[in-house]
Amino acid sequence: MRLHPADPRDLASGLAHALGGQNALLTAGTAERCNTMTIGWCQVGRLWGLQTCTVYVRPERYTYGFMEENEYFTVSVLPADRKDAMSLCGTKSGRDLDKIKACGLTVRTGAGGAPFFEEAELVLVCRKLYAQDLDPACVLPAGEEAVLPHYGAKGGWHRAYTGEIVEAHSK
Ligand SMILES: Cc1cc2nc3c(=O)[nH]c(=O)nc-3n(C[C@H](O)[C@H](O)[C@H](O)COP(=O)(O)O)c2cc1C
Repeated sequence: MRLHPADPRDLASGLAHALGGQNALLTAGTAERCNTMTIGWCQVGRLWGLQTCTVYVRPERYTYGFMEENEYFTVSVLPADRKDAMSLCGTKSGRDLDKIKACGLTVRTGAGGAPFFEEAELVLVCRKLYAQDLDPACVLPAGEEAVLPHYGAKGGWHRAYTGEIVEAHSK
């Protein structure tokens, strides 16, 4: 079955289910030059009266440059049986190989020419509204135990990107 356009509001419960329990592919760039990586952190909901999606990207990721340079990003939820692709895209860097080709994924484009994958079950096309670096100085007492030991020492703190969901596709 092919992906078809959908109203993001109609996908809300499916999205909460998919993103709550599954990982997704975050993609940015153009059809000609893009990169994708596995993300586990993603929230969908209403902000500033808009349907939005927030993702978090560490500055060390190759994808980070694509997120900075492009106005749009996409979130593609692949079927559960594509663990191979989720694993490769979450452990290898686009600096070293063409992950999209290696996984046999088919690039389609949405609003703003943003690339996403035909093999996905759910896709959100987002236009960046806001970006802010997470800041260890803002961690509150409960987070000192739950957050700092796990995320403090492994590298840069993630940049949060909130985008307006301007298009959605589902199967
Ligand atoms: C299950 C899983 C979830 C991940 N979630 C995130 C995430 O939310 N943000 C992030 O910056 N990296 C996340 N990563 C790590 C990146 O996917 C990984 O470093 C990837 O190789 C980066 O690729 P790139 O260098 O091509 O951008 C995750 C990895 C896995 C396996």
